[in-house]
Amino acid sequence: MYAIVNKRCLAEGIYLMDIDAPRMARSSQPGQFLIVRTHEQGERIPLTICDYDAVKGVITIVTQIVGASSRQICIKEKGETLLDVMGPLGHPSEFIHLSKEELAQQHYLFIAGGVGAAPVYPQVKWLHQQGAKADVIIGAKNAGMVILEEEMRKISNELFITTDDGSAGTKGLVTDKLKQLLAEGKKYTHIIAIGPMVMMKFVALATKDSGIPLTVSLNTLMVDGTGMCGACRVSVGGKTKFACVDGPEFNGYVVDFDEAMRRQVMYKTMELDADHKCKIGLDGK
Ligand code: NAD
Ligand code: FES
Repeated sequence: MYAIVNKRCLAEGIYLMDIDAPRMARSSQPGQFLIVRTHEQGERIPLTICDYDAVKGVITIVTQIVGASSRQICIKEKGETLLDVMGPLGHPSEFIHLSKEELAQQHYLFIAGGVGAAPVYPQVKWLHQQGAKADVIIGAKNAGMVILEEEMRKISNELFITTDDGSAGTKGLVTDKLKQLLAEGKKYTHIIAIGPMVMMKFVALATKDSGIPLTVSLNTLMVDGTGMCGACRVSVGGKTKFACVDGPEFNGYVVDFDEAMRRQVMYKTMELDADHKCKIGLDGK
């Protein structure tokens, strides 16, 4: 059992929780994720690690209500527990292997779409602690859905906000701001995009001729998280990869996003049905 020691609402349907998990807090690194289960029959939900504090022994997760299982996490309150929290899983971000001298040469651009700001945060924080330069674009539907803005402002070199309706920052998509920055002559050494699959696809299309390496983090369906079940299968560079053990980060230019998007919605009807039962209390939880 893992106790929820803090909970806060970041935006409508998006919750941040600090979880008491000392061993995980000591071993987590930027780019990794974990799998949460709320009860014995519960679905296993992959969530990116938003922060970790080895001294306090807590890890921070951010969950958006998108179906029954994420709702079952989000309705938990401070003082309640999650049945299992398994992790950290997946490879950490590649940049953690660079020396201080190599990091000093880099100028990263992070593109965070919606809840994608949560997994971007620990990466930018780690780079900031190493003295490396990272600009960040956070894109959201509207001002109310922009999350972690103040936290990100403290650790990023430059922070740009875009909203689809123009209610905060610049009106438009993250790709509009990206194209503008590149057109202005910004010399980024690496772009890292994390957010909706469709956003990552269009970031890849926008930057493919720029010569700038692009890393994306794939939030596929997952079950075991250990490379056994195949649920997280993706095609990368024409080869089958498992996002849980080979990723979650991949070269964004060779990911088959169309296939990944098709697989992501495979169980949509069942998910909607389960969420309806969860809302009206028929799921027994
Ligand atoms: P959203 O639909 O509000 O999109 C966020 C931003 O992404 C938009 O404001 C826009 O700027 C950009 N975007 C969306 N579609 C685009 C397109 N076609 N072209 C260019 N830019 C586009 O996001 P949301 O509702 O917060 O959903 C967040 C998504 O992020 C969920 O699908 C969730 O599964 C995913 N997610 C991914 C990760 C990961 O590791 N990849 C982690 C957390 C969440
Ligand atoms: Fe089962 Fe990746 S989640 S193989």
